[in-house]
Amino acid sequence: MKNKIEELLSEIETFAAESKEHVEEFRIKILSKKGKVRELFEEFKNVAPELRKEVGQKLNELQNKAEEKVNELKEKFENRDDKKNPTIDLTLPAENIAVGSRHPLSIVRNQIVEIFSRIGFTISDGPEIEDDWHNFTALNTPADHPARDMQDTFYISEDPDIVLRTQTSSVQVHVMENSTPPIRTISPGRVYRNEAISARAHCQFHQVEGLYIDKNVSFADLKQTLLYFSKEMFGEETKIRLRPSFFPFTEISAEMDISCPFCKGKGCNICKGAGWVEILGCGMVDPAVLDNCKIDSKTYSGFAFGMGVERITMLKYQVKDLRLFFENDIRFLKQFKAVI
Ligand code: DAH
Repeated sequence: MKNKIEELLSEIETFAAESKEHVEEFRIKILSKKGKVRELFEEFKNVAPELRKEVGQKLNELQNKAEEKVNELKEKFENRDDKKNPTIDLTLPAENIAVGSRHPLSIVRNQIVEIFSRIGFTISDGPEIEDDWHNFTALNTPADHPARDMQDTFYISEDPDIVLRTQTSSVQVHVMENSTPPIRTISPGRVYRNEAISARAHCQFHQVEGLYIDKNVSFADLKQTLLYFSKEMFGEETKIRLRPSFFPFTEISAEMDISCPFCKGKGCNICKGAGWVEILGCGMVDPAVLDNCKIDSKTYSGFAFGMGVERITMLKYQVKDLRLFFENDIRFLKQFKAVI
C-alpha cells in the first residue's frame, strides 16, 4: 500500500501538461470518483489497524498534493488564454503588414515633377474652384471667344463667374500676378470638364502646366526643354516633333508628338500606325497674357506647355481605359510599382 502511494505521488509530481484538456484528463484519472486516489482510499479499508494512522496520513497528503497540482496547472493554462496577460512567443515570425501601392497617376506626376525640378522649375499650386478671370479671361479667352467651346465648363453656382477649372493654365495667371520674372514653374493639378465619360475621356483628370518667363526666352528654349523632358520620361532614343496648333494664350502655338515609345516610330496599334503620339500642347506666351498679369511684354517673353497626366500614364503603362484610374480596383492598382 505504501509503495502504491509513493508511486502515485511521484507520477503526480512529474506530470507535465501540454494543454487545458490535458490537465482535465489528468484530474479525472487521479481525482475523480473512479480515479486512482479514490481507488487507494477503497483499499485503505483493508489496511491493518496498527498501520492505519501512518497510511491514512500519507493518503491525505497524496490527495492534497494531487489537488494542488491540478489547481496549479489549471491556473497556468487559464492565464495563457487571458487576453490581459498573454504569453507572447517573441520568436514567431512577424505577420506581413499590407502596405498599399502608389496610384499610377501619382507615380507619373511625381516623375514629371522630378524631371522638371532637376532643371530648376519650382512647383506651384492654385485653386480647383476658380474665377472666370484666371481660367479664361486673363488667358486671352474673353466671354465670346470661340475657344471657350473647346472646353465644356462646369459652373458650380448660378454665378457664371465661378467655375471648376478646366485647365491648370489658370495657375500660370496666379503665379504671374504674384511674382516677378524670372519665373520657372510647373503646376500639377486636377481639372474638370463637362464631358461624357468613356475609355478616352472623363469629367475629371490631371494636368501638369509649365511656365518659363524671363528676358530673351525663345522657341528654341521651349523645344530643348521639351526634348529633355521627353527623353527623361520615355527613354534616350525618343524623338519629338512640333505641329502648328492654336491656343488662345500662346502665340505661336504647337502640339508636341513623341516618337511612339513602343514601335520606336515604325507604326503599331498604340500609335495607330503613325509612329508618333501626341502628348502635350505648348507655345510662346501671348504678350496679351503677360500684360494681363502685369508683366511687361516688351521686356519679357516666355513659353508655356500643358500635358495630361492620364494620357502619359496610359502611354507608359499601356492602360487602354482611362476609367480604370478612378475605379479604385485594388487588382488594377497593385500592379504599379513606385519608382519615385
Ligand atoms: N491648357 C491646354 C489644355 O488644357 C493645354 C496647354 C496648351 C497649356 C498650350 C499650355 C499651352 O500652357 O501653352 O488643352
